[in-house]
Amino acid sequence: MSAKPRIMVVFNQKGGIGKTTTSVNLAVCLAELGRKVVLIDLDAQSNASTSVGLTAPAATGAYQLLRGEVDVSHASRATPYPNLRLIAGSDDLSWADVEIAVKPEPQYVLERALESTPADVDVVVIDCPPAFGILSVNAAVAADVVILPVVPAPLALDGLHKAWWNIQRVRTHFNRTLETMGILFTMTEDSDVMHRITDAVTASFGGRVLPVRVPRDMKVVEAAARDLPLVILDPESPAAKAYAHLADFVESHMLEPRGPSAARSPATGEVPDEEEEELPPVRQSPPMEPGPVPGPNWDEQLAETVDILPEVSDLRWKIGVGIMLILLGGCVGYALGRWMYMPI
Ligand SMILES: Nc1ncnc2c1ncn2[C@@H]1O[C@H](COP(=O)(O)OP(=O)(O)OP(=O)(O)O)[C@@H](O)[C@H]1O
Ligand SMILES: [Mg+2]
Repeated sequence: MSAKPRIMVVFNQKGGIGKTTTSVNLAVCLAELGRKVVLIDLDAQSNASTSVGLTAPAATGAYQLLRGEVDVSHASRATPYPNLRLIAGSDDLSWADVEIAVKPEPQYVLERALESTPADVDVVVIDCPPAFGILSVNAAVAADVVILPVVPAPLALDGLHKAWWNIQRVRTHFNRTLETMGILFTMTEDSDVMHRITDAVTASFGGRVLPVRVPRDMKVVEAAARDLPLVILDPESPAAKAYAHLADFVESHMLEPRGPSAARSPATGEVPDEEEEELPPVRQSPPMEPGPVPGPNWDEQLAETVDILPEVSDLRWKIGVGIMLILLGGCVGYALGRWMYMPI
């Protein structure tokens, strides 16, 4: 049996918070660490594709993969960086939203397409568009790990909570095996406001906050302008060093170890347990509605949210039947009354 690649999705429905920068630099750093990586650009803007060297619109890429026209090998292309292949984005991806939505079980399209990933691929990194549409849902359904970049600014926090609950919904409805979600602070600055916000998020989300912060760094903008990954343009810049640390953390905590010990257990197909300690596996829960903002003990909050739902729906059902019976009784009474006093 071939080992399944680790599927890492970089998602936040909020735009401009560093998803593409994170996807590209994480993918390049993991490739530099010797992992075989496929970077998938699911965004019609195709910024990730140009950042790793795509110079002309791609004839074959993510859109054709989603349509089932090609498998992963044929959808992907080499990049200038060893160990890194790209499944490119294209304008067609805007239309893929519509096409996928009308397919049967539209949320599983990407997951099924990724079953064709070659056995030697270690990691698939997916850069999502800035929306919680069908493409992002597909990515989250296929994911083993979701990385949520967030800029620690007041407005972005609202987006973080929404993104968190959106991923929770996907997990509870479609992807019970989604293991971890890691919040990554991006574009951080050394200011009181930012420190307060990062502390507040860390207090709320605890171990889900990744132990790396990507500072605001003008070299990132320069790299984007030159269509180069930052870690290639200037590996010594502060943000590049942060992405290198992120890759080290991902490599040691979120990927299977390399070498003979990396083998999955033949009996279960499971990875040995000791890799799970820093970001504990998320609880499996039945479907849920949007709930309260997560607190330090969000797992328990989630359990409470889930537990009260059946009672609420049961109560609604009983009230509905009661109202129907009252209405029916009224109608019967009225009909009887009319019949009794009807002139002969
Ligand atoms: N650490 C950083 N320091 C300074 N600028 C940054 C940093 N990270 C990203 N940027 C810049 O912020 C802008 C948005 O970044 P990026 O494209 O990675 O975000 P995104 O979430 O993918 O955006 P979109 O939602 O449009 O896809 C880009 O111009 C990028 O160069
Ligand atoms: Mg982007």
